[in-house]
Amino acid sequence: MKTRLILLFLAVTTAAFASKDHPVIGLSLDTLKEERWQHDRDTFTGAAEKLGASVVVQSANSDDTRQVRDIQSLISRGVDVLVIVPHNGAAMTRAVKSANEAGIPVIAYDRLILNCNIDCYLTFDNVKVGEAQASYAVSHLPKERKARIVRIYGAPTDNNAKLFKQGQDNILDPLIKAGQIEVVHEDWALDWKPENAKKIMNAAITKAGHNIDAVVVSNDGTAGGAIQALLEEGLAGKVLVTGQDADLAACQRILRGTQAMTVYKPLKNLATLAARVAVEIARGEKPAATSTLDNGAKKVPSIFEKVISVDKDNLMSTVVADGFHTAEELK
Ligand code: BGC
Repeated sequence: MKTRLILLFLAVTTAAFASKDHPVIGLSLDTLKEERWQHDRDTFTGAAEKLGASVVVQSANSDDTRQVRDIQSLISRGVDVLVIVPHNGAAMTRAVKSANEAGIPVIAYDRLILNCNIDCYLTFDNVKVGEAQASYAVSHLPKERKARIVRIYGAPTDNNAKLFKQGQDNILDPLIKAGQIEVVHEDWALDWKPENAKKIMNAAITKAGHNIDAVVVSNDGTAGGAIQALLEEGLAGKVLVTGQDADLAACQRILRGTQAMTVYKPLKNLATLAARVAVEIARGEKPAATSTLDNGAKKVPSIFEKVISVDKDNLMSTVVADGFHTAEELK
């Protein structure tokens, strides 16, 4: 009863403040665990406020039930538009259905939500991320003998993790078939947790020994876990490790030589654009999407931002020049 009264109060006050000039955006995040999502949240909120909107942020701590509840509470508050980073692209379908029933438009941010009616999808070219990781590894592998690699994928519940793998497959499969590369161990890191990646790397070393040339890892958080396992075996810096997100710790590892590369995704561009699209949609305008992507239910108007492969040679001219991290922070 008390909860209902609070929700009613929130709905009335949200509706009173919301108008087409001052829309209220509900931002539902899977997690704030990785540093990147903190950048996304801050840039998105800042850009939305500049456009006259306000943002209510929820973070679900990688828990589907909690994220459905978060979204339902944003719906009850009467937000004008929902922006969702799903923990699980399939499990969020029912929350989107509730939003549809309440007449609230939905934007999928960075990760696609499957089999439902969303209004727009903004992301990076995720297949290109995987291709950049694998191409970098391949160009640094020994050519005179069969190279031995480990593959650590992301969370199997994240549609992006599958796209990163798909991009890596595009580059690696022909070389594996040609007998130039052997995958000595591979596995998925549940919930993108560094400790799960560390366990996978430990298992790889137990199985394949120290004779490993590269570890193709899908993001910086899990690269950190793999590198921890390599450190304990005296292998850090000797085995090439890939990543993604240009996390501060990863950039520092690149400068110190324990991680070879990362993929920088200019979050500022994506988050700023998403804020603009959210405000436009809340005002009843159509998003200026450049492509479409089939999510199983419809061709979703989609926007794909470009990604940049980064190693120690171009770290300063990309990540630092862009103001993502300062040279000072990297020391
Ligand atoms: C994002 C990555 C991120 C990962 C873990 C993916 O969906 O695209 O940037 O590292 O999730 O949060």
